Formats: sequence, C-alpha cells, structure tokens
Amino acid sequence: MIIREAVKADLKELLNVEEQAFGQDEGPEIVKLINGLLSDPTARPLLSLIALRDEKIIGHVLFTSAQLDTDSELDIQLLAPLAVLPEEQNRGIGSRLVEKGLQILTRKGVKLVFVLGHPNYYPRFGFKQAGKLGLEAPYLIPEEIAAAWMVREMSPGLLSNLTGNVLCADAINRPEYWRE
Ligand SMILES: CC(C)(COP(=O)(O)OP(=O)(O)OC[C@H]1O[C@@H](n2cnc3c(N)ncnc32)[C@H](O)[C@@H]1OP(=O)(O)O)[C@@H](O)C(=O)NCCC(=O)NCCS
Repeated sequence: MIIREAVKADLKELLNVEEQAFGQDEGPEIVKLINGLLSDPTARPLLSLIALRDEKIIGHVLFTSAQLDTDSELDIQLLAPLAVLPEEQNRGIGSRLVEKGLQILTRKGVKLVFVLGHPNYYPRFGFKQAGKLGLEAPYLIPEEIAAAWMVREMSPGLLSNLTGNVLCADAINRPEYWRE
C-alpha cells in the first residue's frame, strides 16, 4: 500500500471511497462537504491524502486549515473526514493515513490538529479531549459527545498555555457538521 497526496484526477474515486465508507445516509452529505472544502479558499492550506493498493484508492483523509480565536498566528488544522472502504477496514489503513498526515503536518509547522471523531479511535494517535483543556469547537458540542472533540499537539507542552475557540473553514462552518 502507498500513501500520497491526492490530485484532481483522484477526486471521483476518492469521493466514491468516502461515500461507501459513510453509507447511504451520511455519504452524500460527506461528498458535499469534501467538494465544498476543496473549493474553499478559507480551508487552505489543506492536506488531502489517499491510500492506494494496486493503484486503487482504498482510503482517504482530509485536513483543512483552522484558527484559534485567541492566537491567529498559530498554525492549526482540522481532520475531517477520514474514510476507508468497508471491505478494507480494520487492517490499519485508517491509522496509516492519520499517522502520515500528522507527520507531514508536523514537518509543515502545524502546531495543533483537531478532530470531532470516535473517542475510542483517535487517542491512539495522541489526541486528547479538547474541551477539558479549554479549547472549544466552532459549535457547542453537547455534553454526551464531549469526548469526541479532540486535539493533538505536535510538540509537547503546547497545550499547557492555550485556551480559545476553534474557527474552521467556511465550508464546514455549519451546525449539521458538528453533531457527530
Ligand atoms: C473509522 C475508520 C476510518 C477507521 O479506519 P480503519 O482502517 O478501519 O481503522 P484501523 O484499521 O486503523 O484501526 C482499527 C480500529 O479502529 C476501530 N474502528 C473502526 N471503525 C470504527 C468506528 N466506526 N468507531 C470506532 N472505532 C472504530 C476498530 O475497532 C479498531 O480498533 P482496535 O484497534 O482497538 O481493535 C473506518 O472504519 C471508516 O471508514 N469508517 C466509516 C467512516 C467513518 O466513520 N469515519 C469517521 C472517522 S471519525
């Protein structure tokens, strides 16, 4: 398997992977979100990574630009969405995509990566509950899913002096994307 940055010619196939992974109910909305983010100047810089086996796309992850309202100079990114083809899940592909993404973003000087995702999945990559640290999501996260809003610091100690609200790209700045 290889992981590389997606190019325009990959779009149709990677959207198909996302749609299959998220299923009939959520899939179309996720496709709309990705198309929106890819054409949104406020989402840049972004990182769109695909996993391929035998030249077939089997996974995709997208990271887009965000900001902290208390420190607009800090480079931060939001991870959303992540998807692996249903028949390829639980084989470490999602993990490889997240790890590779974090590695590339660290190299680019990104300081924090946020995600609204499965609280059992992301801690293995160093994500911690963000609300507890005083870092709030663009929309109020209900108490029942507070553990799903997480942050990963790219160098140790960064989180100890930071609080604030995350401002995300326009295309994902809608309440329906913040309900998990
Ligand atoms: C979530 C997802 C991206 C994980 O990718 P993957 O390649 O299957 O995951 P990996 O093989 O790296 O890791 C497997 C682990 O993820 C867990 N996992 C898989 N799907 C999960 C889910 N929907 N919720 C929580 N944990 C999940 C597995 O239980 C397994 O845990 P374990 O290592 O403790 O046994 C993939 O299952 C997927 O595309 N799901 C549908 C789309 C989705 O829900 N995306 C949102 C992610 S926030």
